[in-house]
Parts: sequence; C-alpha cells; structure tokens
Amino acid sequence: MEAKTVTLVQESFEKVKPIAPQAAEIFYAKLFELDPKLKPLFPSSDDAMKSQGNKLMTMLAAAVAGLSNLDALVPVLKGLAKRHVDYNVEASHYDTVGAALLGTLEAGLGDEFTPEVKTAWADVYGVMSNVMIEAAY
Ligand code: HEM
Repeated sequence: MEAKTVTLVQESFEKVKPIAPQAAEIFYAKLFELDPKLKPLFPSSDDAMKSQGNKLMTMLAAAVAGLSNLDALVPVLKGLAKRHVDYNVEASHYDTVGAALLGTLEAGLGDEFTPEVKTAWADVYGVMSNVMIEAAY
C-alpha cells in the first residue's frame, strides 16, 4: 500500500475519533438502509448496538494504526474474518459494509472528505476486505 494512502487514512481517521459514537450510529443507519436484511445479524437492544459500535470503531482504529505494518495486521484480520462466518456474514456483505463506511466518513468529515481521501479509504477497505474474504470463504 502506498505511504500516501496510509497517511491520508490515518490523518482523516484522527478527525473521526472524537465523534466515534455518532459515527457508529450513522454507520449502522446507513448499513441497514442499504440492506435491511443485515439487521437481524446484529443484536437488537440499543445497549448491545452501542457496544457493537464501539467494537467496530476500536477495531477500525487498530486497523488504521496497523496499516503501517500490514504483515502484523493480516493475521488479526484473518481471525476476525473467520469469526464473522459464525455471525452469518457472507462475502457479498463486505461491499455493503464498505459503502456504509465511505458514506459515514463523508457525513463525518464533510469538506475534508476529498476525492483523494475517499480513494485512499476505498483502497484500504478493499485490501482489508479482500484479506478477510479470502481467509473465510
Ligand atoms: C473490515 C471489516 C470489518 C471489521 C473491521 C469488523 C469488526 C468487527 C468486530 C471488532 C466485531 C466484534 C466481534 C469480534 O471481534 O469477533 C464484529 C462483530 C460483528 N460484525 Fe463485523 N467487521 C467487519 C465487517 C463486517 C461485515 C462485512 C459484516 C456484515 C454485515 C459484519 C457484521 C458483524 C456482526 C453481525 C458481528 C457480531 C455482532 C454481535 O453479535 O455482537 N462485520 N465486527
């Protein structure tokens, strides 16, 4: 992955961190709007959704931080992907999650979500989801 891509993603994610709970909320709203069939995969109580949102943001933060050392990140992503099979996640769901993620970043970053930043995130999510899909399906 290009150094510039990693920097763009890491810097833009720093700006999302302070609004992580709201970002998580936007993310799930977008995800279920894109595909309502995904809703039953997740816990239904508000509290459980909040903790799920935290897990997602924490994992994303770890992944973003780990981009500079992809070799160490890959085994973590593989383990995560295998657990996702048990959550009834299918390979095709990764595209939907990617679209919800980009939409969330756009909403959270506003004007700072430049085309360059968007491409960088699409690259990074593409690499992460490819690793996960290959490990699990
Ligand atoms: C880069 C992609 C993804 C990341 C970083 C991610 C992150 C996480 C994390 C950290 C957890 C907590 C449980 C664990 O560690 O095993 C989790 C659970 C879960 N994720 Fe993901 N995920 C990703 C992709 C997806 C996709 C594509 C779906 C499909 C809808 C999905 C649906 C779920 C569900 C249903 C759970 C379990 C919820 C529960 O029962 O508490 N995730 N995810």
